[in-house]
Amino acid sequence: MLQQYDKRNNDIQIWVDDKLYPRNEAKVSVFDSTVQGGDAVWEGLRVYDGRIFCFEQHLNRLMASAKAMAFAKIPTKEFITDALMQTLKANNQRDETHVRLTLSRGLKITSGMDPRLNQFGCTLIIVAEWKPPVYPPSIKLVTASQRRNSPMCVDSKIHHNNLINNILAKIEANFAGVDAAIMLDIYGFVSEANGVNIFMIKDGTVYTSYADACLPGITRATVIEICKNNNITIVERNISISEFYNADEVFVTGTMGELTAVSEIDGRTIEQQHNKSILQKINKHFKTKTEKEGTLLTF
Ligand SMILES: Cc1ncc(COP(=O)(O)O)c(C=O)c1O
Repeated sequence: MLQQYDKRNNDIQIWVDDKLYPRNEAKVSVFDSTVQGGDAVWEGLRVYDGRIFCFEQHLNRLMASAKAMAFAKIPTKEFITDALMQTLKANNQRDETHVRLTLSRGLKITSGMDPRLNQFGCTLIIVAEWKPPVYPPSIKLVTASQRRNSPMCVDSKIHHNNLINNILAKIEANFAGVDAAIMLDIYGFVSEANGVNIFMIKDGTVYTSYADACLPGITRATVIEICKNNNITIVERNISISEFYNADEVFVTGTMGELTAVSEIDGRTIEQQHNKSILQKINKHFKTKTEKEGTLLTF
């Protein structure tokens, strides 16, 4: 699965710091922390029919990540909300839009790792692109040799821009000719795929990994809530890769691609053992939520 360029994004306006720039003029300094050390945090958001889905949750996670990283002069939620609304308005984006919102530690007075060199406050970057959900109806996965960070290394609860371990896993998927890579935690249990959380269904129960080494995804939380509200048993526990091979259904979740079925893992076909798909049921509830819930756009 390779995303394609969408010509509608030729002329989009992009927010940097405190104003909008045409796409080709939107730039950050070579002294910005995101260039120097991947020292930034980010969120991916989606706009559906005049609403930003789960906006409050994304804003809260961004703020929590920035606090964990001890950023100084973090813009207020009100400032970020206003900047996002202005960006979407400038591009007239009310639907089919994915937003990449990045907050870096900001500009440094000279190159170096020390955050005390960052004396100007955070840099806010908002890239809102025309982008319908990116995955095909089903995808294939391979298990990567690259492990997902445990909190002993870099805590995955910080949604940071230091994505190298996930990118290395994705490279393994590319070489294997599949869509994405499953990343194990340091104990060998399945953590998540390189950019999405992962679930499996066996004998009518939905399972997902503990959010110890994976990002606690907002779509993941939404799926767990859907299960709890609709009498679908959901269990969080350590899950091994062999259990995934033998699952009745496997799916991944994320803002970029929503809920996507997995048809194959490491060459093993995921055999649908039951006539009635639980994933279909969860997906129906998810779609209803995206149609009805979210923060209304102010333009
Ligand atoms: C590593 C990783 N896992 C999972 C997700 C899915 O998270 P969400 O559902 O909040 O989009 C993301 C999205 O950014 C991610 O980067």
